[in-house]
Amino acid sequence: MQRFLVRSFGAVLVVVASMGGPRALAGSHAVASAHPLATDVGNQIMAAGGNAFDAAVAVAAALAVVEPFSSGLGGGGFFLLHRAQDGLQVTVDARETAPAAVTPETFLGADDKPDIRAVLDGARSAGIPGTPAGMDWIVRHYASLPLRTLLAPAIRLAREGFAVDSRYVAAATFREGVMRAHAPTAAVFLDQGGVPAPGFLIKQPQLARVLEAMAAHGASGFYQGEIAHQLVTAVRQQGGIWSEQDLANYQVIERSPLVIGYRDARVTCVTLPSSGCLVLAQALQILQRFDLSQTDSTRHAHLLIEALRRGYQDRVRYMGDPDFVEVPVERLASAAYADQRAASIDLERATGSEALDGIVREGSNTTHFSIVDGHGNRVAATLSVNLPFGAGVVAGDTGVLLNDTMNDFAIGASVATAYSLTGSAANAVAPGKRPLSSMTPTFVESARGVLVIGTPGGSRIITMLLLALSEALDRRPGDIEHAVALPRFHHQYMPDRVEYEPGVFSAEWVDRLKAMGHNMQEGKRRWGNMQAVYIDRATGTVTAYGDPRGKVGVLF
Ligand code: DON
Repeated sequence: MQRFLVRSFGAVLVVVASMGGPRALAGSHAVASAHPLATDVGNQIMAAGGNAFDAAVAVAAALAVVEPFSSGLGGGGFFLLHRAQDGLQVTVDARETAPAAVTPETFLGADDKPDIRAVLDGARSAGIPGTPAGMDWIVRHYASLPLRTLLAPAIRLAREGFAVDSRYVAAATFREGVMRAHAPTAAVFLDQGGVPAPGFLIKQPQLARVLEAMAAHGASGFYQGEIAHQLVTAVRQQGGIWSEQDLANYQVIERSPLVIGYRDARVTCVTLPSSGCLVLAQALQILQRFDLSQTDSTRHAHLLIEALRRGYQDRVRYMGDPDFVEVPVERLASAAYADQRAASIDLERATGSEALDGIVREGSNTTHFSIVDGHGNRVAATLSVNLPFGAGVVAGDTGVLLNDTMNDFAIGASVATAYSLTGSAANAVAPGKRPLSSMTPTFVESARGVLVIGTPGGSRIITMLLLALSEALDRRPGDIEHAVALPRFHHQYMPDRVEYEPGVFSAEWVDRLKAMGHNMQEGKRRWGNMQAVYIDRATGTVTAYGDPRGKVGVLF
């Protein structure tokens, strides 16, 4: 990676990045995040001598304040790191865990049927947060600056306030009912009980106090002592089942990412308890058996859909927290398995999910940022509270918005998550277990360049990555701006349909896929908010690319 030291550019040239469209400025470092205030924080940290890991912690904290509907101290996620000095690539798994008191009955209603709302709204739907521990872990193992320095910009934003934008308005509108019903939540995130207008200033002095406790005591400022006590008391008062022991027991787990060869590129991404990389690995390995460089757009889409159908089927069948269930990772990621799966694809016809072998009958919001520093260190992080504004409630007067990530478990046979995903026993709820995720922070390295990439979008995350990678590697090599902005379609095995973004595909393309037997359904809105940083090997430039959808307030 040393060859990416871009010192030849002289003094630090900051790449101001993201939020709608690329800024193709050459520089030694870059941040692509979903909010310009958070992007600024990351760039300032690196301009002041911090590395990508410092910037990642500062950006995660800033996003927790200015994009509260997507991620925050009450949520979790995954950080994928690359350390230039020794080439270490590692996942910091800061995924939420199920509280110890959880049982299979926790999410059953009075009629003994799974209660979907109980796993989406309110304190019971919250897992034990991982993001504060993830930030602290990165500071202690990879960063060069102390946590208090890295949290300072977020604390200032929380105290001084930030102006609501169109994405905030869309997210608050989506969750208004739940937030309005809970006075402490409405007091922080609504304006006199209603959705605030763009420009309204949201101040979070209570959250600033929690960040200050972390600045003073690290993770234990959140997971132990006064804040932990307040969190648990509030969660229990609101019908949740956390204990102080659950918080004290929370552990970040370092894991090896999965590495996949795809044509001449090396794709490194976050795997279990995220299904992302394993589904992506299968889809890429299947696609590798076809020449996609010259295929027409219908055939290309057909092959992507069939590859996804097969990958997502195995998500349902096999995947869950690897510390709780045996997942046949090696077999699923193997070339022999890809051969077998690819052989079942008919080039002219949709397979139909029901017709696949081993049919399974059982049964926003999130943020991604990508960072590269002048040393060649990289961070791809996808962090979440699950639905927009998570559970829709803050924990009493801590100002910490709770996640509703328990929804990512399969809470019953045939009970789908908010993203229409079903699962098997492998993803059943159990104390201490991490719910299966789709978040897929990814690195792609080829002779041409290095891409740091990811996106929010629930179950569609993996598809979005596959579409972008196939475009950037097969169809328009190195054209990252195009890959990030690309019109999107999605197939996740079940429901057996191809959902496509409205107004961006030709009727002819849709008709041709229909004629091949695909169940084509126009979506109601566009989706995703991809954030990428690309190092061009030939020129040494480091460029940040933000999804144009981020500009117009697409939610998830
Ligand atoms: O972990 C997951 O797969 C989900 N909780 C992610 C949710 C998400 O991406 C919401 N999107 N915008």
